[in-house]
Amino acid sequence: MSHPLRTTVDDFVQGLKAFERDHITQNRVREFMDAHHLSAEALKPYTYFRSDYYTRNLIYRDDLFEVMAICWQPNQKTAVHTHNGQLGWMQMAQGEVAVHNYKYLTCDCPERQNVVGLDCLGGAQHLELERLNTNVCNDGTGIYQVDKLRSIHQIENTDKSDLGVVSLHVYSLPFDSCVTFNMDAGTCCRKQLSYYSKYGKVEGDIEHRKDGELRVIG
Ligand SMILES: [Fe+2]
Repeated sequence: MSHPLRTTVDDFVQGLKAFERDHITQNRVREFMDAHHLSAEALKPYTYFRSDYYTRNLIYRDDLFEVMAICWQPNQKTAVHTHNGQLGWMQMAQGEVAVHNYKYLTCDCPERQNVVGLDCLGGAQHLELERLNTNVCNDGTGIYQVDKLRSIHQIENTDKSDLGVVSLHVYSLPFDSCVTFNMDAGTCCRKQLSYYSKYGKVEGDIEHRKDGELRVIG
């Protein structure tokens, strides 16, 4: 895919801010991102690599949008997780990831899904997910999306090079927690999310957070 227009982070954010709440649709944001590609160079101020886990780096956030860069070293991957029923778009700035898609089949506490503002409280002790397909995402594959129907996946850095991978993520609405799945145990729980850096600055207390699971979901 060619990139008709390289853009700056500021222009990208201004473009998103032009969307009104009623007009945020999956296709409109995808078309906007297709036309306004952020390069790895443009994302440099938000690019931090760690050998112990991948990093979530906040670029912009308001009531409607959350924009972040996720930086992946070789073989780093997320847990299988949900997106809280929100829309999400991912565009690769550098390298390649694999997205493994899953479908919810059943669990022992489905009533916990019926709650305002969250897709599910989590906490199942017995659940079944069906593994669907895997999508390879790189500079040439275009935008990868999640929505209400396609919400459960795992992202894995499968890039062949030793160069770090950088992916750009836009979510609407923003969300601060998601459900993660323990595939071996057949359980799930709700996890709080955090950022490694915000607006280009590493969060001060990052070294004190020893529970890696809390900060590494993308
Ligand atoms: Fe995700």
